[in-house]
Amino acid sequence: MDSEIGANIPTIKVYSDKFSGHVAVLTGAAQGIGAVTAQLFAQQGAQVILLDIQEELLRKVQSLIQSRGGKASYLVCDITDERQVHESVDSIIRQYQRIDVLANIAGIYLFDLLNNMMTESYRRMMSVNLDASFYLTRAVLPHMQRSGYGRIIHTSSSTFQEPEPGLAVYAMSKAAIIGLVRGTSVEAGPGVTVNAVMPGLIKTDQVWNAGVQPDGSHPLFERVIAKQDVKRCGTRDDVAHTFCFIASPEASFISGQIFDVSGGETFH
Ligand SMILES: NC(=O)c1ccc[n+]([C@@H]2O[C@H](COP(=O)([O-])OP(=O)(O)OC[C@H]3O[C@@H](n4cnc5c(N)ncnc54)[C@H](O)[C@@H]3O)[C@@H](O)[C@H]2O)c1
Repeated sequence: MDSEIGANIPTIKVYSDKFSGHVAVLTGAAQGIGAVTAQLFAQQGAQVILLDIQEELLRKVQSLIQSRGGKASYLVCDITDERQVHESVDSIIRQYQRIDVLANIAGIYLFDLLNNMMTESYRRMMSVNLDASFYLTRAVLPHMQRSGYGRIIHTSSSTFQEPEPGLAVYAMSKAAIIGLVRGTSVEAGPGVTVNAVMPGLIKTDQVWNAGVQPDGSHPLFERVIAKQDVKRCGTRDDVAHTFCFIASPEASFISGQIFDVSGGETFH
């Protein structure tokens, strides 16, 4: 499930100075896709600022990046709290004078059938997955507009196109990201682009460990891979490389777009 039988992919090249001089702010950077994406930006020379609520894990990601010669700092920030978002952005601007990339990756998925979904869970999911994306965009965009350069990249999910039962609210929150992306893109102005990455099923520890069976099989991944054109598990690196491409200066003619990273699952 981890590699595609018959594929012979050349070595992926990473350029250590690709993002040198760039400041990249990543939310959800303590684990999963966010942590790996932060490492890839740092490996390519960016100064990364890791935002999350899990301080212990943030410190671990920061140490890992620094031990490999990368530049990382972190801020404990609950992105559902408007005040914390503004304080974090202000402090980043004070220290680094710029934000070139906002990679908004934090997200939560609480499963429950719509009939059973508690209002509290609904609000929590909308608040992390959607409200926070608005707060972050509104806080960061003026700085990018002033400098004439910026990359805002949010995280949707291919789930919203074909949700499994129990994911209606998650699907709502991830569908709304597309409206945010398109609406912000038309207002962003010269040099600033706004896009979203839309991962399919990705093998993170959380998702994998939640469904692995005693015999080692994983029914969810098996079911989804059967619907993908690329017959292997999606990885955190697959998503991280997409973030880095959209965040690069050469992607300056691409805005208001949604990048499906699902091995072709959604073409069925
Ligand atoms: N893993 C998948 O299969 C998959 C598929 C499609 C989309 N996504 C999306 O990709 C993103 C990352 O997914 P993941 O699987 O790596 O998730 P994850 O659960 O491993 O990591 C999410 C991170 O967000 C942080 N976070 C949660 N609430 C926060 C808050 N209020 N303030 C700051 N940080 C907060 C968590 O602490 C955690 O570190 C999410 O937006 C998710 O919806 C994931």
